[in-house]
Amino acid sequence: MKEITKEEIVAIMRTVKDPELGKDLVTLGMLKEIKIDGANVILDVVLTTPACPLKDRITDDIRLAIRGNIPHVGEIKVNFDADVKSSRPMSDTNRIPGIKHVIAVGSGKGGVGKSTIAANLALALQQEGARVGLLDADIYGPSMGIMFGVPEGEKPKVNSENRIMPIMRFDMPLMSMGFLIGAQEAVVWRGPMLAKMLQQFLEQVNWGELDYLVLDLPPGTGDVQLTLSQLIPVSGAVIVGTPQDVAMADVARAVKMFNMTQVPILGIVENMSGFDCPHCHEVTRVFGGGSQDKSRYEKMNLTLLGELPLELDTRVAGDAGAPIVVKDPQSAQAKRFRALAQKIAAAISVKSYESELQLPVLH
Ligand SMILES: Nc1ncnc2c1ncn2[C@@H]1O[C@H](COP(=O)(O)OP(=O)(O)O)[C@@H](O)[C@H]1O
Ligand SMILES: [Mg+2]
Repeated sequence: MKEITKEEIVAIMRTVKDPELGKDLVTLGMLKEIKIDGANVILDVVLTTPACPLKDRITDDIRLAIRGNIPHVGEIKVNFDADVKSSRPMSDTNRIPGIKHVIAVGSGKGGVGKSTIAANLALALQQEGARVGLLDADIYGPSMGIMFGVPEGEKPKVNSENRIMPIMRFDMPLMSMGFLIGAQEAVVWRGPMLAKMLQQFLEQVNWGELDYLVLDLPPGTGDVQLTLSQLIPVSGAVIVGTPQDVAMADVARAVKMFNMTQVPILGIVENMSGFDCPHCHEVTRVFGGGSQDKSRYEKMNLTLLGELPLELDTRVAGDAGAPIVVKDPQSAQAKRFRALAQKIAAAISVKSYESELQLPVLH
């Protein structure tokens, strides 16, 4: 039997494409190592995110391609590792060291579930193996303290280098204006002052190395939002909306704001998209929308990233200090959050790959 060579495998891998980036694994630099052990082939593949939704598909494609070309191949093992690539720096001064991507979660108005989604998204990304932090920038209604069960009065410590140490919950660094000042104090501040405070936050907080920092933006499309998205290099924004028509007008405003500040929009999450019956878990679509009516989002050029029904345990878990993805990881809602996290991570990988392509060639 003819011996299998690494060169042969590399040539075959040039025909296997990453389904999302549209380029082959060799060109993308995703093939880290090839080991050949008799008739068996072991491949180490580096993904652009640990939360890659396409692991199974890539494995199948690799197996098919190798088996198609080398019928006498034995076992084919594919190991995955991830290296989250950072977006193109907007400039050296406004990069936050150690943080590869900032994902902003925004909405046109409050009460649509922005914080619930930011918290569960951050934890779901972490469950997928990413290093994640969460910043509650919603100074008007900081809610991370409650959602993560941080006792009132627990303050972040400052280390010997004068850096603010985030509060750790579920192995995740958390920061909220609510940890530093009373919520009442913040509301009387003016936009630019708030934005300045938030910038300091980002620069002085000792986040450590993070693949993703999830940013819970204040609701609305005012001053603070505009300044913030200019100060922080956001890799992508997730808009949260509800299916009611009124909320759609708010969605349109949020889209406009992110477009004005050139923050790439990853898509929309439709929250309270129907009602999950606590007895039979059948979802009733009270307001329509969702995947049954994608055209309303297509009109706005928005990708529907996920739909989350209104569900009792989600609210109870959030109020009790352990968001649903950690409280009940096997629940249908937790699974929806993980699928959402994978979709968002994949969209970020594509966006940063595209921004890399636009890099000027340096001589
Ligand atoms: N999908 C959902 N199912 C059940 N309750 C939800 C859901 N999304 C949000 N909530 C609840 O609705 C309230 C408002 O959500 P929150 O995340 O604080 O909104 P926002 O940050 O947009 O103001 C909270 O009590 C939260 O627990
Ligand atoms: Mg909130």
